[in-house]
Amino acid sequence: MRKFFSYGPLSKTQHYYVPRTKLIEFGINQLVGEPYEEGGHYITVWAPHQRGKTWLMANVLWQLMDDERFDVLKINLQHLQSQPSAQIVLQKIADYISSHLSIQPMPINNLDEFMQLFGQGHLSKPLILMMDEFDSLHPEIIGEIVRIFRNIHVTRYEYPLPTEQKPYLLHGVALIGVRAVLGLDNVSSSPFNVQQSMHIPNLTYEEVDSMFHWYEQESGQTVEQGVIDRLFHVLQGQPGLTGWFGELLTETYNKHNPTIAMKDFDLVYKTAVQALPNANILNIVSKAKT
Ligand SMILES: Nc1ncnc2c1ncn2[C@@H]1O[C@H](COP(=O)(O)OP(=O)(O)O)[C@@H](O)[C@H]1O
Ligand SMILES: [Mg+2]
Repeated sequence: MRKFFSYGPLSKTQHYYVPRTKLIEFGINQLVGEPYEEGGHYITVWAPHQRGKTWLMANVLWQLMDDERFDVLKINLQHLQSQPSAQIVLQKIADYISSHLSIQPMPINNLDEFMQLFGQGHLSKPLILMMDEFDSLHPEIIGEIVRIFRNIHVTRYEYPLPTEQKPYLLHGVALIGVRAVLGLDNVSSSPFNVQQSMHIPNLTYEEVDSMFHWYEQESGQTVEQGVIDRLFHVLQGQPGLTGWFGELLTETYNKHNPTIAMKDFDLVYKTAVQALPNANILNIVSKAKT
């Protein structure tokens, strides 16, 4: 049987989830571009923790992987968080790209060499690149990478050739993180301006409702509608907290009565707020309302 889950990206086979098809489609369209030949967009995906950014963009990745016209990669940068050397960060990104695309590794000693990584001489197909936890990098390194991408974007624009013939093959980019990187979104000359950012909302009432009805079907237990309503009212569809409360209601504090009732919710809420190690809960709950 499926479970509610709140510890990172969900599995479509093991957990209750919301398909978020429209958002996935939006991400795909942005990165692929219309018309495709002119290239995709360079977008940012900024949203608070546990909004489902990683899950969504992983789904974008999986669908894009079926397209033969381009390569697509998603790199998680969190492990480079405490790395102060731009050279090492750029080299690691380059190594990741080269090894995943099975192309010749390239030594990166400076920004120019990093830029050449995306050039015709090195890549063989247009590339869509997603960088998760991008904002965990040092601000200076962020600035350097963004400048390179901006440069590539402008150069691509200036060559009126189809995407696969442009001097740089970086077709689309998604920078993913929890906070807008300073000076990135509000510079109008930046490809990463506000218009190109992808908003990730909380789950809607219907979406939260659907997960609990799914649970009812699988478990044979009913969930009082009032519980779902109250849960939505308190958490405002914040994806991670919704999963966590789902887990508490259907597993941890489930008394296995035929119905999960309001008094069960009250107990879960009280325990969640007071006792569990997730000290941030009040903070998150209050943020979820904004
Ligand atoms: N499509 C979804 N349907 C239901 N819950 C989701 C969905 N996406 C994310 N969540 C919830 O949010 C949590 C965090 O998801 P994740 O993709 O890691 O978010 P982020 O990258 O924004 O921190 C998941 O563990 C799950 O509880
Ligand atoms: Mg994430």
